[in-house]
Amino acid sequence: MSLTGAAKLAGVVGWPIAHSLSPRLHAYWLAEYGIDGAFVPLPIRREDLAAALHGLRLAGFKGVNVTVPHKEAAFAIAHMADAPASAAGAANLLLFGNDGRILARNTDSVGLSGHLAESLGVDALRGKTAVLLGAGGAARAAILSLDTLGAAQIRVVNRNRQRAEALAAALQSNVKAKLLAYGLEDWRTAASGGDILVNATSAGMKGNPPLVLGLDPLKKDAVVCDLVYNPLETDLLRTAKAHGHKTVDGLGMLLHQAVPAFEAFFGVTPKVTPGLRSVLEKALGQ
Ligand code: ATR
Repeated sequence: MSLTGAAKLAGVVGWPIAHSLSPRLHAYWLAEYGIDGAFVPLPIRREDLAAALHGLRLAGFKGVNVTVPHKEAAFAIAHMADAPASAAGAANLLLFGNDGRILARNTDSVGLSGHLAESLGVDALRGKTAVLLGAGGAARAAILSLDTLGAAQIRVVNRNRQRAEALAAALQSNVKAKLLAYGLEDWRTAASGGDILVNATSAGMKGNPPLVLGLDPLKKDAVVCDLVYNPLETDLLRTAKAHGHKTVDGLGMLLHQAVPAFEAFFGVTPKVTPGLRSVLEKALGQ
């Protein structure tokens, strides 16, 4: 990598950040398109977020991606927000304006809808019943994506049922799909006849316990999608494959959410290619 004094700067803020694949992803595109720019990992503690963002803006950064645990705080700090960030109440992308104002964007939901549309076809979920596990930020983004792809009903299932109810109530006015909330103890009812299952919990992630759920209440030809990408093949996806379900892994969402970010930072719309995917698969040790 060789930078000039005019290099465009961006990065990703999170805590911890060492596990993030975003620096490799952006580095791949920076090299591919011969761009004078850098994208760096920025480990920032919760209590330092506002000061760090202020400093990065003053240091000339174009903006930053935002990851766990800062997505809600980043949204709150920004002066303006695009519609997906407002609907999600969370930002995964902050852009620093020349006037000192910060724009919050959320590209997680377009990342997931882009990835699902590419994997399944744009109309595959129209009128369908989706079963969504989780009620955190990832689940919020998934509700917006499933709605964009035309799902008729989204059943939000969460270990903490009250959180599922709160999420469904908060998002119902933003989406056309009917949102229903369940606790995990009602799994069989919630999953009954589902056309797609999306895991938006952190269960199954490296270091976390796996999800142990029977997949038999789902339709036989249901799709099973896991937003967890480390490991790429989670226990949930392995079980789903063994039962003959089509599966969609979480890496595609990460790649697709980065496209608008790279475009905003560096002025080029990058392509998600098999070459990029295989670099990241290698980084994940697959
Ligand atoms: P994010 O913003 O990344 O979605 P989060 O807000 O911490 O992160 O949400 C994590 C989600 O994973 C929650 O829905 C959590 O369930 P609770 O609300 O009941 O805590 C879910 N989750 C984490 N570990 C889980 C596990 N072992 N089994 C089931 N759900 C789990």
